[in-house]
Amino acid sequence: MSIEKSGLPIGVFDSGVGGLTVLRALRELMPGENYLYLGDTARVPYGSKSADSIVRYAFQAGNALVSRSIKMLVIACNTATAVSLEKLAAEYAPLPVVGVIEPGAAAACAASGSGNIAVIATESTVNGKAYQNTICELHPEAKIIARPCPLFVGLAEEGWTDGELVEAIAARYLHPLFAEFGSNGPDTLVLGCTHFPVLREAIANVAGPGITIVDSAETTALKVKNTLSSLSLLNQAGGKGRTRFLATDSAERFAAVGGSFLGIDIDPTNVSVVDL
Ligand code: DGL
Repeated sequence: MSIEKSGLPIGVFDSGVGGLTVLRALRELMPGENYLYLGDTARVPYGSKSADSIVRYAFQAGNALVSRSIKMLVIACNTATAVSLEKLAAEYAPLPVVGVIEPGAAAACAASGSGNIAVIATESTVNGKAYQNTICELHPEAKIIARPCPLFVGLAEEGWTDGELVEAIAARYLHPLFAEFGSNGPDTLVLGCTHFPVLREAIANVAGPGITIVDSAETTALKVKNTLSSLSLLNQAGGKGRTRFLATDSAERFAAVGGSFLGIDIDPTNVSVVDL
């Protein structure tokens, strides 16, 4: 593969700022890569929309990134992955396209000793059964119960990530979910939405010490690295890569809220507002 191509950015998209939790893991694992991140902040949340709308939005986001020249596409949104991964991969081939559900399911199976796995995600991801089916393929004996926690997306987009209110909402979602397992509760809780990791501490406080919380960020980053490596597409330029941002709504708001998801400040002048 040409050196010029390996220097192209990795395109990453989500319905909003949640996918920045995946971008954070990507940047930690591959600091020398360039990244182009798109948050469809004007249309978040995706999780309560119909599959047809989500597929349409995913294609619009994918087209915006592909038309700006990327070497790989990462769907950093469980909801979009669940309904559009195969379609996007077919449309953009041979461009490699990676989603977050298979890596998240793999992380869950690696973490769970008992096979009792609770999954929290958006309504659309839960209804599409993508996690249930993928975990079952990897661990046929697993008992999986998945439930939607849509308010977590709003809390995360609002930057409300801890405190009494967040824990009260977490308790309202998690206690009935854990009770559904009966006397043998889950040993693993999957954060099946890329918005949820910023609420991890509050969720962990409610879940208690016996439950391992996993998300798909690190395992997705590893999959991206392995894919790029197998295609000889890892950036050979040396030095620190550059990250640029696209948002479909206010650059200032994206930068203000996104910083805590990414773990570093985002300069609003580095965020371009685009219409999909
Ligand atoms: N961050 C997204 C996910 O991983 C979706 C949140 C939403 O837009 O509803 O599912």
